[in-house]
Amino acid sequence: MQRVLRDGAFAGETHIVTGAAQGIGLRVAHALAAHGARVALVDLDPEKLAAAREEIRGDAVEDPIPVPCNVAEEEDVRRAVATALEAGGQINGVVNVAGITRDARIPKKSFDDFKLVVGVHLYGTFLFTREVAAQDWHVRFKNAGNAPLRDGVNRYVVNFSSVSARNGNVGQIDYTAAKGAIEAATRTTAREFAGYGARVNAISPGPINTPMLAGVGEGGIKLMAAATLTGRIGEPEEMAAVVCALADPKIFGYATGQVFQVNGGLYLA
Ligand SMILES: NC(=O)c1ccc[n+]([C@@H]2O[C@H](COP(=O)([O-])OP(=O)(O)OC[C@H]3O[C@@H](n4cnc5c(N)ncnc54)[C@H](O)[C@@H]3O)[C@@H](O)[C@H]2O)c1
Repeated sequence: MQRVLRDGAFAGETHIVTGAAQGIGLRVAHALAAHGARVALVDLDPEKLAAAREEIRGDAVEDPIPVPCNVAEEEDVRRAVATALEAGGQINGVVNVAGITRDARIPKKSFDDFKLVVGVHLYGTFLFTREVAAQDWHVRFKNAGNAPLRDGVNRYVVNFSSVSARNGNVGQIDYTAAKGAIEAATRTTAREFAGYGARVNAISPGPINTPMLAGVGEGGIKLMAAATLTGRIGEPEEMAAVVCALADPKIFGYATGQVFQVNGGLYLA
């Protein structure tokens, strides 16, 4: 895979990527690992995680760690963060990518589906955010006498929103509500985590070429491509490159609490 940063940009660091078995999460995990990070691969299915690990391995300095986990389950997330922490001795970054859709217009939307979708996106993002602080970053802050951490260690969170959080999307009241909440949570987290020396940002992608988008069908994808200013849908590698830039304090060290629109001009914020 082609590196977008200098070699070894994340050497000696441990990063967690959720939704890492396919789509954007897999490309993000691959890109971080190719720049030297030890990456904990979080997703539901152990077999798909094993395949992801094999795919990434050839470009990785550190062997990726597959961590089967349902991001909406508190105990799973606690264990996943503990596993990554034990392997690396510290957590440097968390990228909350895992997501699902259960599209239906409002009158037909089941409450179970609504809760499921909000659970994966919003609860999952919250739980990883809390656990990385509770198990690692807040502990270091307390050990430093409750003084802001200015130890030069790279710490960051990147959350995933969607252009639909601001633009609306028919059939996705659960998804768009969760993404809007993630944008708001990103700002609160940035304020709370400033004391840990951590930058907290979100990416809001437009339509990206992944299995999730494939569910929309060829006709729908063509319409979305035509609605952008670039005339095409995005590639997951392009999202991975943006995550790498946000994860790198040499590039985005002065950005925190922001939502970055990366949508081909589909929506102009
Ligand atoms: N693809 C797009 O067009 C697009 C656009 C905007 C935002 N996004 C966002 O980007 C992120 C990644 O989307 P994608 O297109 O790669 O999706 P995808 O469906 O291809 O991959 C999502 C991954 O998340 C995993 N996952 C789902 N539920 C989980 C759970 N409970 N616990 C752990 N893992 C779980 C899935 O198994 C899958 O591997 C999502 O947050 C999505 O909302 C995608």
